[in-house]
Amino acid sequence: MYRSMLHTGKGEGVAHGAGRGAGDDKGAEGGAGTGDGAGPDLAVRVGSIALQNPVMTASGTAGCSAELSAYMDMSRLGAVVVKSLGHEPWPGNPPPRLRPVAGGMLNSVGLQGPGVEMWLRDQLPRLMATGAIVVASIWGKTIDDYAKAAAMLQDAPDRVIAVEVNVSCPNLEDAEQMFSCSAEATAAAVRASDAARRPRWVKLSPAAPDLCRVAAAAVEAGAEAVTLVNTLPSSQVRGARYAAGLGGAGGGLSGMPVHQIAQRAIRECRAALGDVAIVGVGGVFNAGGALELLTAGANAVQVGTATFLDPRAPVRVLCELEDLCVRRGARSLEELLGR
Ligand SMILES: Cc1cc2nc3c(=O)[nH]c(=O)nc-3n(C[C@H](O)[C@H](O)[C@H](O)COP(=O)(O)O)c2cc1C
Repeated sequence: MYRSMLHTGKGEGVAHGAGRGAGDDKGAEGGAGTGDGAGPDLAVRVGSIALQNPVMTASGTAGCSAELSAYMDMSRLGAVVVKSLGHEPWPGNPPPRLRPVAGGMLNSVGLQGPGVEMWLRDQLPRLMATGAIVVASIWGKTIDDYAKAAAMLQDAPDRVIAVEVNVSCPNLEDAEQMFSCSAEATAAAVRASDAARRPRWVKLSPAAPDLCRVAAAAVEAGAEAVTLVNTLPSSQVRGARYAAGLGGAGGGLSGMPVHQIAQRAIRECRAALGDVAIVGVGGVFNAGGALELLTAGANAVQVGTATFLDPRAPVRVLCELEDLCVRRGARSLEELLGR
């Protein structure tokens, strides 16, 4: 059934409400979380936000705008998380930027992006025209960078429902240690991002020595959700000579190799944080992978590297989840998860 739903039609009238319809062209086939009785209810909450279903794109793997709209109806997703944006345009790392590894990839894109201002003007309107619900992602090299990027988002349209604060980047004010390796720096970045005036999710690195402490500090600082996990800092040794094989100093590992790492991060943070919303990301290639992260304790999931293999992956995962509900006689995601 899900194959028939992988259409490219433009959605209209998207609302961010649990169980609300995501477009005008889904009725005949039913759709995840349409709430019209035609399909299972996949609606979830992430903090204060109700999403029509738990599947999103992962930041950096689906562009900043409507790049993937030729492959899928982006309005079907719970949300589209755009590539992390700085307060100003950023060139990123020199090529090569991507290397395949078994089951995944190394990337050293280096946060190339147009900056918030250009995104709001040139790219967000095209993304909104697809009917997508949008999560902006911001990054910085200093706390002030986060404050500036967030402030630029304060008048963004309401359809930008949240800001994911990517703290998995080097902090120039702390010997280039990643913000997310420090509870204090992470909390400061989250606080500075308050200027966006919308719910903040914090995106953490699995390399943080004390992930749960960092996550708790971010929540204390105002994050409504914790996104787990970003890529794992890695590099590649080739031949006898040490070489990263990438234009950047190293690369971030993603895909299947980080799936179990994401599961563990989610389980540990779920145990440590109680009811705080968790968005799981890492090696989700199909509904089975999504269910594993949801079972580990995530409220929603993001699909990243799988999109490079199959640009329809996020919607395919969603449709597979819906099919699974139907096959198992579950009327909702909660029932499918046995909750
Ligand atoms: C090419 C590439 C670019 C990425 N860029 C970003 C980014 O800009 N911001 C961010 O928070 N995460 C970024 N990520 C990390 C992903 O959002 C995700 O956390 C990670 O890849 C693990 O999920 P996956 O295994 O499904 O890809 C990037 C990942 C890849 C592969």
